[in-house]
Amino acid sequence: MNLPLSPAVTAPAAGSPDAEALIHNLADSLSLAEQVQLLTGADVWSTHTLPSIGLSRIVLSDGPAGVRGEDFDERHDSVSLPSSSALSASWSAELAHRYGQVLGQEARRKGVHAVLGPTINLHRSPLGGRHFECMSEDPRLTATMAAGYVAGVQSMGVGATPKHYLANESETDRFTVDSVVAERPLRELYLAAFEDAITESRAWLVMSSYNSINGTTASENDLLETPLSTEWGFDGVVVSDWTGVRSVEAANAHQDLEMPGPVGHWSAKLLAAVESGQVSREAIVEKVVRILRLAARVGSLDGVSPAVAELPAALDSAAVAREVAIRGAVLIRNSAGLLPLDASALTSVALSGHNADEARTQGGGSATVMPKQNISPLMGLREALPATTSLSYTRGAKVAEGLQQFARTALHNPVSNVPGARVTFLDASGTEIFAEDRLASSLIWFGVGIPEGTAAITISTDWTAEQAGVHHLGLGTVGQARLSFNGTEVFNGELLDTTNVLGAALFDPPSTVHQIETTAGETVRIEAHYTLPPEQFIPLTAILLGEEAVVTDPQAEIDDAVAAASSADVAIVVVGTNSSIESEGFDRSNLDLPGHQNELVRAVAAANPRTIVVVNSGSPVLMPWLEDVGAVLLGWFGGQEFGRAIADILLGVAEPGGRLPTSWPAALADVPVLSTTPVEGKLEYAEGIHVGYRAWLQQQAAGGPAPAVPFGFGLGYTSFEFSAPHAPQQVQAGNDVIVHVPVRNTGSRAGREVVQVYLERPDSTVERPVRWLAGFAGTHLAPAGTESVEVRIPARAFEHYDGGWQVERGAFRILVGKHVEDDFQVLAIDVR
Ligand code: BGC
Repeated sequence: MNLPLSPAVTAPAAGSPDAEALIHNLADSLSLAEQVQLLTGADVWSTHTLPSIGLSRIVLSDGPAGVRGEDFDERHDSVSLPSSSALSASWSAELAHRYGQVLGQEARRKGVHAVLGPTINLHRSPLGGRHFECMSEDPRLTATMAAGYVAGVQSMGVGATPKHYLANESETDRFTVDSVVAERPLRELYLAAFEDAITESRAWLVMSSYNSINGTTASENDLLETPLSTEWGFDGVVVSDWTGVRSVEAANAHQDLEMPGPVGHWSAKLLAAVESGQVSREAIVEKVVRILRLAARVGSLDGVSPAVAELPAALDSAAVAREVAIRGAVLIRNSAGLLPLDASALTSVALSGHNADEARTQGGGSATVMPKQNISPLMGLREALPATTSLSYTRGAKVAEGLQQFARTALHNPVSNVPGARVTFLDASGTEIFAEDRLASSLIWFGVGIPEGTAAITISTDWTAEQAGVHHLGLGTVGQARLSFNGTEVFNGELLDTTNVLGAALFDPPSTVHQIETTAGETVRIEAHYTLPPEQFIPLTAILLGEEAVVTDPQAEIDDAVAAASSADVAIVVVGTNSSIESEGFDRSNLDLPGHQNELVRAVAAANPRTIVVVNSGSPVLMPWLEDVGAVLLGWFGGQEFGRAIADILLGVAEPGGRLPTSWPAALADVPVLSTTPVEGKLEYAEGIHVGYRAWLQQQAAGGPAPAVPFGFGLGYTSFEFSAPHAPQQVQAGNDVIVHVPVRNTGSRAGREVVQVYLERPDSTVERPVRWLAGFAGTHLAPAGTESVEVRIPARAFEHYDGGWQVERGAFRILVGKHVEDDFQVLAIDVR
């Protein structure tokens, strides 16, 4: 379904005074019951229609690294972009803008009017479960990237939804935790990260978070009023996180839209609350106005032409996905110029690591989308290496835990005689109501797709074993189910959800696994029968058929990888995390690579000094072998084109462009801000303004450990020299400052550098971070090319919050460098 462009009539444009007048009139013209109805979703993903005023649906969809659409259905595929951590590692607002445009384009293709992203909570602790989905530990970098993303989405006439407002930096007890944050860090860090997306890119929505902030749940919190609506002038819709409205009280706050619907805490209860005077009618009308304004902007309100009348030229989504994966990949070690490899001189490459084959291209949870195909590093290298180079693959160490859905190519639908699986929906008497052919063996229905009257669902597929041996096959779901292999029942019982976390059971359900021995190429008929529970508060059903990798001798797997590596020109090990570690709904308990991956890297590196490690994780992991391998490339969750991007980088077709958006520690015990575990329901942000590199610098100043790799760090394939920067020696408080930095590419390849400018305030009378990022700018230069790069330091960078934004007049230091711990060039500036 494609969204309509503006009609050719001369309707007032969204945002014009005439459109505003019309919207106010329409809101006033509705009965109270109609007004209240509009404030709760019509279903899981969309709002109510009101044909009498020409209002059609507003469809919202996750976000943030792809647009899923209204169903979790692999037949309706979505472009999967690299995780936000990868995007922000590019330090490029222009790239964030294009990333947003791809999302906007995807949204239009899928009939979606608002993308539920970007996620711009900060990387406060590396244990945060949704770290991969957030951008950075620094508010300046986050704000810049988020503003680019929002502007990009909205340039396509689709709303963007910065989330989760506010102080939702971790997942433990996420529905109830009270984040206790003092005013200054709230303003200087957590709110600052959101600010540009609202004040500059004018986001059309904001999502309030599940947690409380200083004692009040987000959907009822005054922060929705100030600074969001008052100081920042937000005129869009505050949508709740799914089930995040807890009472009618939220209607007295600036919470506008309750999702999902149709039954929530508002509806009839809110109607009664207005009638009894507990909630004012003005508050209701104001929310209706905001919802109609959003509808007008996205083209869901007749009589108003949408905010974007002319769309930018179509983008090649896969090309953008690949570019972001390349430009976000961070090269943190490249000893003796091992990279880039010269493909024409390579005779053999030994690739190992579970994630090289089953790459993790996106994080888990609501961010999940279903791309047509994910390119793994194995596939990418196979495609890219010349035919004369032999490429071997050994798993080396298992990473994925539990059941993994079957490869689509291994499935055959026995009823329709096509690839995939046959799914039937049965009524209470066992009669088939509906049937469909599916392509995948991980099936999720969230509010959409299960016909009315369904009492049970069956799945049937013929799975072909690629290899001979004992296979561990099974079924994952929550509830009453049966499973059979070749007509023999192997399970009949109930699988219980132990997590009790909305969504977690969807992506990592409890399972039952059974052994079956096959020859290579043998087919097994797998049939599952699932009984729907009589009632579901949230209409969520997930059924997974798959195989579990069971390794009885981990050393033998490592030995295989070592044997291949020792005789190869170069060894590449792809290590990473799995869905049990980085996902929504829970935090991590440590930063270790799962399984025997560290042993694998050490053994391969000992066998071949030309060992390259590619890290496939959305957030920091510990790399105890960092100094012992030839090269290390952090590839994040690289999206659907991950493998091609990795091949491009390793073979020198492209340069890795990333700079770390977050400090990576050497040991868990070193991390200055770590715990995400609330105490008596409260998570104290006790570190105040010292988060991320600010905390590391504070710790180092006191003689404590430094991170393994500092914020801002990243290598390319060429070298750059900065000559003496210049900036005014004094500035009037309240003004921006431009720093000019002459940059020269001193290497033999074209490449990109990011000029980073930090501030320090020696002898301050105010508590300060040791230093803080004030601005940055990128430049791309040919060999011997030069440019005077302009970096803008916004006036705000000189300010601190104390009841309002304040300037401590006097001498600041401007530091110009390539990362937060560089050997800086220093300028002095007097703020008057
Ligand atoms: C997540 C949001 C998401 C929403 C809808 C929630 O559980 O926290 O980020 O947008 O679900 O899927």
